[in-house]
Amino acid sequence: MNSIPQLQIALDYITLPPALVMASLVVDEIDIIEIGTPLCKAAGIEAILAMREICPDKLILADFKTPDVGGLEATMAFDAGADMVTVIGGAALATVKQAYEVARSRGKEMLMELTGVRDILGRAAEWRQIGVDRIVYHREWDAQDAGREWGEEDKVIIRRLIDMGYKVTVTGGLTLELLPFFADLPASVLICGRGIREAPDPRAAARAMRLAIADLWSGSNSGSPSPRPGTISAERAAKAVRFAVSEMGLLLTVDGRECPGCDSPQRFCVGTRTEIVTPAGIDTQALVSRIAGALDLAGGQAVGWSQPGTFYLDVGLLPRLDERAVTGLLSATGSALNALGYRADLGTALDITRRVLSE
Ligand code: 5RP
Repeated sequence: MNSIPQLQIALDYITLPPALVMASLVVDEIDIIEIGTPLCKAAGIEAILAMREICPDKLILADFKTPDVGGLEATMAFDAGADMVTVIGGAALATVKQAYEVARSRGKEMLMELTGVRDILGRAAEWRQIGVDRIVYHREWDAQDAGREWGEEDKVIIRRLIDMGYKVTVTGGLTLELLPFFADLPASVLICGRGIREAPDPRAAARAMRLAIADLWSGSNSGSPSPRPGTISAERAAKAVRFAVSEMGLLLTVDGRECPGCDSPQRFCVGTRTEIVTPAGIDTQALVSRIAGALDLAGGQAVGWSQPGTFYLDVGLLPRLDERAVTGLLSATGSALNALGYRADLGTALDITRRVLSE
């Protein structure tokens, strides 16, 4: 099974206010907020500062596509609150190196942007020598307008990049319909801009993307290869989490009294995330950091909080989807709650988890 790619929304606006509105609309459905290149040019640092303020816990990427002065631009972005920056593939190696060094020293990320690069594998080998391990594989808007389609040859190059040690972000006119084409690739991040922003209901579109990614990459979708033995579908894993946390006596943030049940297409909870009310007397931030601390670095992304008094467990963000990973997430949750003075019946919760996973 491929681990499930993160979903990034590209906010390619030319003024800040609509970008902030869109971010607050979709924030719960996405993993990374991208300050798109036009917005970087229009409002740059101000946009990063404002986005950090309204989305304090989300990863923020500034798509500067820096061409020169790599160290300074990366410093400016990180000082303002960004977690990641991009450098354009045509930049001099000295620029790549400077931006990379700043990112590394700050514990942040720098991604090479392949827009316009012809000798992708040759350049990518040079960047690997510097240490760069993230790359954005891009079908450019203008190339798309001129008729460039995604093809098997793109996937061949993406696979080669992954073999070279890159975590690859794929972008360029991605839509729900295009996702199955990429589902056999272990991509790290998928970016969707227009496909979400221009939808009649952007939040629903983001949620649909997230759910489809989780299903396709966990192998549960009928259009993708069968899951390997030991792996489980994201849907089932999310159901197991909902049952288990209820067994621990926790409340979901949705009022489920009218819900027809987890196996109904009309169920209330969709997607891979379970939003939970933090028990009274427990500090949400302390709880989340305890749970994350008990998981490995990658697994730690599967827990977080987006509003005071609630936290979430998101099986879609586990690095792999099997019984061990799901029970690990729940054990970490139960243990953290118990350590903070809440009595969670972890044994019963894990029993029900295994039962749901084996249905
Ligand atoms: C354009 C970009 C866009 O942010 C990227 O292509 C994603 O947007 P969309 O999904 O609308 O193509 O970097 O250069």
